[in-house]
Amino acid sequence: MVCLGNICRSPLAHGILEKKIEQHNLNAIVDSAGTGSWHIGNPPDIRSIEIAKKNGVSISDQRARQFIKIDFEEFDLIYVMDKNNLNDLSNLDYNNKYSGKIKLILNEINPSENMDVPDPYYGDNNGFKIVYDLLENACDKIILKLKNE
Ligand code: 4NP
Repeated sequence: MVCLGNICRSPLAHGILEKKIEQHNLNAIVDSAGTGSWHIGNPPDIRSIEIAKKNGVSISDQRARQFIKIDFEEFDLIYVMDKNNLNDLSNLDYNNKYSGKIKLILNEINPSENMDVPDPYYGDNNGFKIVYDLLENACDKIILKLKNE
């Protein structure tokens, strides 16, 4: 799960999917990272922690890290939150070796529409609820996919 800062959106996606994987007894490892370096080592934004907690998901132990090239090898699926993230990862993947792994997460709900998970950082709490609900729906679709593998 990849976003810009790894403190708002991708920690939520990480926590939500991890919990669902556990609930469905699936065997998969979830992680998250940011394309940017500003927040390395920081816990998630308090507003993400709070909306997750309200929904029974604990993300407060997560710490932000930056996406590194090895991640392309380490993970089978790389979900990005928006088209800027997609662009940033595509630039890192300059030989186009991993483009088949990189997916816009909301295409799980609305295939081919290339919608962005809105960046809630500069907004209010409602923005975090909108993000949570979008990611919860997307993660349900990812679980269905994993179950059918
Ligand atoms: P995220 O949100 O990419 O969902 O973690 C942001 C967090 C921090 C900043 C931008 C977006 N920032 O500019 O510091």
